[in-house]
Amino acid sequence: MFDAILNTLASLRLRLIVTYVLVTAISFGLLTLILNRSTDAFLMRREESNLRGMAIALGTTVRSAVDTSEDAFALDQKWTQRRCHDYLNRNFPDLRFRMLDIHGRELMDSFYPDDWASWLAERAQRAGHETMPEVALAMAGKIGAETRFSRERTGHPYTIYIAHPILRTDPKTRQHRVAFIMYLDKPVDVVRQNLNELRHQMLVGMLASLLLTVLVSILFSSNLSAGLRHAAQVARAFAAGQMDGRMRESGRDEVGQLGKSFNQMADNLERQEGLRRNLLADVSHELRTPLTAIAGCADTLADGTLTEDPVAAQRFLDIIVRESERLQRLVNDILDLSKLQAGALAIPLTPVPLPSLLEDAVEIARMQAGPEEISIACDLATAADLVVMGHEDRLAQALRNLLDNARHHSPARGTIRVTVEARAEWVLVHIHDEGEGIPPEDLPWVFDRFYRAGRGVGTPGGTGLGLAIVREILLAHQGRVTVESTVGVGTTFSLHLPIVQAEGGMRGDACG
Ligand SMILES: Nc1ncnc2c1ncn2[C@@H]1O[C@H](COP(=O)(O)OP(=O)(O)O)[C@@H](O)[C@H]1O
Ligand SMILES: [Mg+2]
Repeated sequence: MFDAILNTLASLRLRLIVTYVLVTAISFGLLTLILNRSTDAFLMRREESNLRGMAIALGTTVRSAVDTSEDAFALDQKWTQRRCHDYLNRNFPDLRFRMLDIHGRELMDSFYPDDWASWLAERAQRAGHETMPEVALAMAGKIGAETRFSRERTGHPYTIYIAHPILRTDPKTRQHRVAFIMYLDKPVDVVRQNLNELRHQMLVGMLASLLLTVLVSILFSSNLSAGLRHAAQVARAFAAGQMDGRMRESGRDEVGQLGKSFNQMADNLERQEGLRRNLLADVSHELRTPLTAIAGCADTLADGTLTEDPVAAQRFLDIIVRESERLQRLVNDILDLSKLQAGALAIPLTPVPLPSLLEDAVEIARMQAGPEEISIACDLATAADLVVMGHEDRLAQALRNLLDNARHHSPARGTIRVTVEARAEWVLVHIHDEGEGIPPEDLPWVFDRFYRAGRGVGTPGGTGLGLAIVREILLAHQGRVTVESTVGVGTTFSLHLPIVQAEGGMRGDACG
């Protein structure tokens, strides 16, 4: 089973690493996608507006010339072309500059600066540009711009086109009309190149961060799985009987919490195991004393040396009877105690009227005390209507044990007082005697099993388990038992029980 856990841990670690790497890769992929699309669009738009700005600037320059002479281009196309070409090629080598007439036909082309004749030949074969959407816009007097796959520049697939109308004002009517169209275009390879560079850098970044992720996750997960591995080891050792091993509790995380919970459980188990061992040792020790006495007496009787001494023989037989009875009580008490300890919560509780319970217990104690010897005073006035939630036989057993102790520790003609005190949620039953008292140093221990106070004599005929049983019974009732004692004056044991209800009409004055 533990090997299985170790195996899962190994795969847990692997799964962690894979998860980290996947998360990093996916987020990087998404980021690249988003950045790609937006930078692509952004760079294109920027390039287009750059070109548009240039067109407007050129347009105003050209217009002033056009306004003065109607046929500037028609008159000296070659000269204008060369000038434009010189200006543009120096500064914008990629830019193609063309002038169109108002029907979209070319008047000049910056790509043919010197070769006038071949340009004319070429132009004759080419159709006008009037069908292009941007040129159509310019013919209508607006600036047209478009980026598209180019048929003309085969080496540069994507091209930005700007068509800018050059207006002329009619001197008489003062109205504007389109005189020429300035037609610019520029390949966007450069933009693409920039983008590719960006992509390349992002790829490098992604690979680097993936590598970093792997390293970090290996470190982190080995830390985590080391904690779990250690926990599994401790648990395995614990299962094999090494109860002193504990897990590391450092860290507020789940592993630390696991360690804390496990250690609590281990402490509990260890204490229970100790209790069990102690009980076994105590019980065998207590059983040995009466058994030794019985075996000794029986031995002496059996070897026949006492046949002439019937008085001594009778005394030995009395010892055997007394010790057997004691043995019986001891076994009964041990059984009771272990039953109570094993299933304290399993005792079924029912409402028990307090007065009748106390009356019965006092009645039995009086009978056992014998007339005149010890008197038992019982004041149940305050208990009249009280009902407690409890197990009648077990509560009676607790009262019997306390009354037995009080009886055995009372002086001749002493008085035992049983009183009831009702508090907000508790009812207290006090059993007070005028006995020798319990020394203060013994008080904390009297409820321990087999503990005898004073000079270690204990109650005559007692088993040393009476008070331990009382405590277990009260615990099962969510109550408790306390003791107060003054040496030479007397002892008071008090049972604290939770009240259920005050019942009307119950009378408890039968004893008093
Ligand atoms: N009423 C009492 N007065 C003085 N000592 C008491 C009284 N009740 C109990 N004790 C002390 O507490 C010890 C434990 O009591 P218990 O558990 O009933 O065992 P036991 O079988 O000895 O009565 C007794 O041995 C005795 O020393
Ligand atoms: Mg007792």
